Amino acid sequence: MSKNKILIVYHSVQGHTEKVAKLIAEILNADIKKINQNQKSSGSAIMRTPRILAQMYGLQNLDTSWIDIDEYDTILIGSPCWMYKVTPPVIDFVKANDFSNKKVGLFITHGGDYGQTSEKFKDLLSAGQYLGMLEYHSISNNMELRLKRDLKKFKNCP
Ligand SMILES: Cc1cc2nc3c(=O)[nH]c(=O)nc-3n(C[C@H](O)[C@H](O)[C@H](O)COP(=O)(O)O)c2cc1C
Repeated sequence: MSKNKILIVYHSVQGHTEKVAKLIAEILNADIKKINQNQKSSGSAIMRTPRILAQMYGLQNLDTSWIDIDEYDTILIGSPCWMYKVTPPVIDFVKANDFSNKKVGLFITHGGDYGQTSEKFKDLLSAGQYLGMLEYHSISNNMELRLKRDLKKFKNCP
């Protein structure tokens, strides 16, 4: 395994998390994979539960086995916040992988109240070193500067 190789894995329906993910990948010169790469947004359904929404979007039981995390030692996972949690495809991706001996950081985009998303995500991780969570409510023009500063909060992340 090469040292400090970083993978960005993200899910995004409306594009906010995608913007952040792409900027982080650029800043860290990291590889990047989108969990739902073949899915398209099909409108807003904010009152539906995340699992029903995932079903509607065809995001249930997505095959993420093509995302090979073996060669990476840091995985940064991006997700929209849905009902104070990461989204079902991200939950499924985390459950399907073994993060032993890896560092795992989370970044989310949200609409203003992300509640205990970070704590719940940490509970979901059965192995690995959790680096913490970065959160973004709005995607501003100076996002790159902001991210460069924020990424330093991820302990041991270059
Ligand atoms: C089903 C659903 C549930 C959401 N739940 C929350 C929430 O609990 N808290 C919050 O702050 N924003 C919530 N939002 C807003 C999204 O987190 C926010 O718009 C996010 O940036 C979308 O990411 P995306 O553009 O990458 O899909 C929710 C949005 C949807 C569609």
